[in-house]
Formats: sequence, structure tokens, C-alpha cells
Amino acid sequence: ERQAHLQSILATVPDAMIVIDDKGCIASFSTAAEKLFGYSADEAIGQNVSMLMPSPDREAHDGYLDSYIRTGRRRIIGYGRVVVGLRKHGTTFPMELSVGEAVAGGKRTFTGFVRDLTSRHRIEAELRQSQ
Ligand code: HEM
Repeated sequence: ERQAHLQSILATVPDAMIVIDDKGCIASFSTAAEKLFGYSADEAIGQNVSMLMPSPDREAHDGYLDSYIRTGRRRIIGYGRVVVGLRKHGTTFPMELSVGEAVAGGKRTFTGFVRDLTSRHRIEAELRQSQ
């Protein structure tokens, strides 16, 4: 019963959504993203998405975008990856990142879905202990 309850929590954690342009500039920032990262949409829109991650990705992320645009080689798009996010107040957390790409009116945009893995990691540890 406890296990079913914990599984239902895992199933209903909402994702944050962030849209960026080909330079990494944030164009849209969902309510769940505001809650997760601690920035209002007004604060985040127009800033580089690298503000949401710690070093060394923070300094490297513009280069990740450039190299993807040059080579077309995908490291996250279509695969997803567990990475580390950084909140406004400076704490880091594990997150599952999925990225999709769209081209509209000749402009390339990327949409990122972010799932906070903090509670999943904690719940998985609890499940292991209760077995
Ligand atoms: C690539 C980290 C957020 C869009 C990457 C790569 C890493 C990374 C490690 C692959 C580098 C490589 O192996 O070549 C992070 C971290 C984030 C984050 C730590 C934490 C906030 C985002 C978000 C978006 C995004 C929110 C989109 C809205 C991309 C794109 C690529 C990329 C388009 C290149 C395409 C690809 O590798 O498939 N990022 N990223 N990233 N990221 Fe991020």
C-alpha cells in the first residue's frame, strides 16, 4: 500500500517546460519552471539558459548548442539525459532533461522538459530500505 502510494507520487510529478532559441536565449518559461528554478518568467525570459545550470556545463552550454547546429550530432535530443540544475538561490538538484527541436518561420527553437528527480531519488532510497 505504501509502495502504491509512493508510485502514484512518482507518476504525478509535473514537468517544467522551457523554450530557447538557437543562441540559448530563453523565450518561454512555464509556471512549473518558475517553481522549480525560483525565477519568475519575467526574470528568466531573455536570459541564457545556462543560468539554470552549474559549472562546467554553464560555461560550455553555448558551445553545446553551436556544435549541435554545426554538426547535427545529438547528445540529448531524442535521448534525454540526467543532468544537474541550479536554482536561483544557489542549490543544485538532479533533473531529467528531454529536448525537442522545431523550426518555424526559418527560426530554430528548442523546447526542454525538466523533471525534478530530487523526490524520485529520495523515494527510491526509501523503497530500497522498505524491501
Ligand atoms: C546539449 C546540459 C538545459 C537545450 C546539452 C548537453 C549537455 C547539456 C551536457 C550535451 C553536451 C554534449 O555532450 O555535447 C544541460 C544542463 C541543463 C540544460 C545541465 C540544465 C538546466 C537545457 C534546456 C534546453 C537545452 C532547458 C532547451 C530548452 C540543449 C540543446 C543541446 C543541449 C538543444 C544540443 C543538442 C543535443 O545535444 O542533442 N545540454 N542543458 N538544454 N542542450 Fe542543454
